[in-house]
Amino acid sequence: MLVARRYRFSASHRLHSPQLTDEKNRALYGKCNNPFGHGHDYVLEVVVQGEPDNITGLIVPVSKLDALVRTAVLADYENKFMNAEIPTYATVVPTTENVTSDIHCRLRAAWPSDFAGTSLATVRIWETKRNIVESNGTRKELAV
Ligand code: NI
Repeated sequence: MLVARRYRFSASHRLHSPQLTDEKNRALYGKCNNPFGHGHDYVLEVVVQGEPDNITGLIVPVSKLDALVRTAVLADYENKFMNAEIPTYATVVPTTENVTSDIHCRLRAAWPSDFAGTSLATVRIWETKRNIVESNGTRKELAV
């Protein structure tokens, strides 16, 4: 079975690759290349795979999942300018693809031992109503 839970966080970023010229960055990322950055109200969906416990009927206690997401993700991302305040993005462009991968890696690395028998199935992020990225965890970890 799968259980999903949604979270929200606000953060800002600038899409700019140092491996491309300024002109190519502007052409590729458009207004998202604005030097002063811009913000989003991200929606993060965490999907856990497992079977309900025989006694509690739950796959994972929601309060424990919330605590994991709060400490492993939200504490670092909430109200941050990602490019400057999250070390991952010193060398990696904070696209929604890369943010989704980073969050997947963070959650997997911090997965509590009392979640035994469960696994992180999917991390999905809505950057806007029309931009949605999903990670199933097969991507290599990002350089931090
Ligand atoms: Ni953006």
